[in-house]
Amino acid sequence: MYKIPFLDLPPLRAASGTVRLPGSKSISNRVLLLAGLAEGTTAVHDLLDSDDTAVMLEALTQLGCQIRKDGSVLQVTGLGGRLLPRAARLFLGNAGTAMRPLTAALALLAATQGGEFELSGVPRMHERPIGDLVDALRGFGCHIDCLANEGFPPLRLSGPSPLALDKPVQVRGDVSSQFLTALLMALPLVAAKDVVVEVVGELISKPYIHITLELLKRFGIEVRREGWERFTIPAGSRYRSPGSIHVEGDASSASYFVALGAIASVNVPLRIEGVGSESMQGDVRFVEAARAMGAQIESGPNWLAVRRGDWPLKGLTLDCNHIPDAAMTLAVMALYADSPTTLTNIASWRVKETDRIAAMAAELRKLGAQVDEGPDWIRIAPLHDWKPAVIHTYDDHRVAMCFSLAAFNGLVAERPVPVRILEPHCVAKTFPDYFETLFAVVDTSRSEIPVIAIDGPTASGKGTLADVVAESLGYHVLDSGALYRATGLAATRAGIDLDDGPKVATVAAGLALSFGKGRTLLAGEDISDELRQEATGVMASRVAVHPAVRRALNQLQLDFRRPPGLVADGRDMGTDVFPDASLKVFLTASAATRAERRHKQLIAKGISANIESLRQDLESRDARDKTRAAAPLHPAQDALMLDNSAQTIEESRDLVLDWWAKRRPF
Ligand code: DC
Repeated sequence: MYKIPFLDLPPLRAASGTVRLPGSKSISNRVLLLAGLAEGTTAVHDLLDSDDTAVMLEALTQLGCQIRKDGSVLQVTGLGGRLLPRAARLFLGNAGTAMRPLTAALALLAATQGGEFELSGVPRMHERPIGDLVDALRGFGCHIDCLANEGFPPLRLSGPSPLALDKPVQVRGDVSSQFLTALLMALPLVAAKDVVVEVVGELISKPYIHITLELLKRFGIEVRREGWERFTIPAGSRYRSPGSIHVEGDASSASYFVALGAIASVNVPLRIEGVGSESMQGDVRFVEAARAMGAQIESGPNWLAVRRGDWPLKGLTLDCNHIPDAAMTLAVMALYADSPTTLTNIASWRVKETDRIAAMAAELRKLGAQVDEGPDWIRIAPLHDWKPAVIHTYDDHRVAMCFSLAAFNGLVAERPVPVRILEPHCVAKTFPDYFETLFAVVDTSRSEIPVIAIDGPTASGKGTLADVVAESLGYHVLDSGALYRATGLAATRAGIDLDDGPKVATVAAGLALSFGKGRTLLAGEDISDELRQEATGVMASRVAVHPAVRRALNQLQLDFRRPPGLVADGRDMGTDVFPDASLKVFLTASAATRAERRHKQLIAKGISANIESLRQDLESRDARDKTRAAAPLHPAQDALMLDNSAQTIEESRDLVLDWWAKRRPF
């Protein structure tokens, strides 16, 4: 996951492969609450692991539910409708799907069993209205205090207090359907008699009520529905754990990949697994909207396959009330259309994680788009002259995910531009691995993927510098020395004479290397520690002199150049392997300084060492690397010199990042 201040997306061009979606946020949090209220243990499969589910899990734990992780399955043992702790302070982040239903459930439980609960969230949560739900709950006798502003969290729910449930409970349906969902999920707690809920005003986001009713059914509650105005929870309703339940993939999250296929999967469709034609989520109907814009989509019970149909896409005017979240994706697809796109009936956007109409309009304009907006609509014109934009994400996961699609501008613009996404980790609300998932299925021309080359002599700290620079930018890392080291090691193990260039080159060409979590594996064996040993460094230095070995490792190194970018360290990154690198740094710490550092490292590891002999070793290795015929160590003409002898690693990193910032178009 990218916990970095910004993520730069290079211009992207194509998409192919398979995406497995994370679990649906709406389903996950509903299932957790229902499992938490029910009697017995529910095995929850494929639960979304995200910020919003984390706050729900934490709240349920505080309320006394037992939650146990069993591999990828979560075992939730519910309260069976009985309050255990009678008091708790619950922090619910920015999760509307936790705040609303927990408010209803705890207000009812406090009223009937006594207790005092405080519910709060992040500042934005305290600006998101909950007054209609509070009014409804107060209407039948719950005791609720709004602790800051009337109609907004934080809230205090207290009891006991007598409940009057004989008359229908009324709730407004035109601000957020989550108010109705909250009541429908909580009222079975007190349904000694039939309880009737009446919706006042036109109910928005009906598909989310459909999800609520489907899940209630799975937990043994059969709500009777008359149109979308009147819902009856039958007398004697009791939550019954279904024993085990599977969470569908998130249909709103699918929208980014449906759009991706429509924009960038030209021949082979992009396959999306986790949602399909049998989904209970309303946002699968995004598929219809995407089709109307030109996407070619096939589907099965829980998969979609999407590719480009019409190109450019077709502009459209669409009432988006039924797909409020996924509709944001249409606003970015609209940039690739042949005519303006108007999305209407989206007033709910204004009270989501941020004011989404304002946010989308502002950020689309930064790209250069012409955008008009009204209280409940937005219109976006196609874009041809794209500007490199810094996209503010307002702590709204969907804004971040939507704008990643702007990186495909090279498919319509003459001069492709990169897109900078600020605070990319906000996607963790529903899709923590969104960018990793995206990068795994996209491609572009190599020359468009930025490379930072960091070259220098042995023990100059270039590996550490490359790691921290890459970490700050969310880029991949290539430790090219490791490839030479692994080659030397593999050849030695195979009993090959390291001076026999052609033979060693065969080993290099067939290296079965894999990387992950800071470890390097050779044919499945973890060789990370052996790679770092001085003896292996000497082997590397010997095999590195053979042109055939260098050629054999060349393609392997080029393959590291993948979106979003690469930081490569070695001897010839800037000169030979990536001569077009956007930034080249050459480290120049003296042999004496490097020997001192190496000495400290070894002593710290408890290995005895002699500075003088270390320095001599380094100097003779430098000499061999500099004087060899094949790719001798020397700075690229356009390299920036960095003497890090007197610098901390952070100082060197900040300097390189500063140089990098100056080369970016933002
Ligand atoms: O950076 P290092 O100490 O891991 O490198 C080990 C040896 O590999 C070094 O002596 C020279 C060689 N090497 C090279 O020739 N070209 C590179 N790009 C990286 C390393």
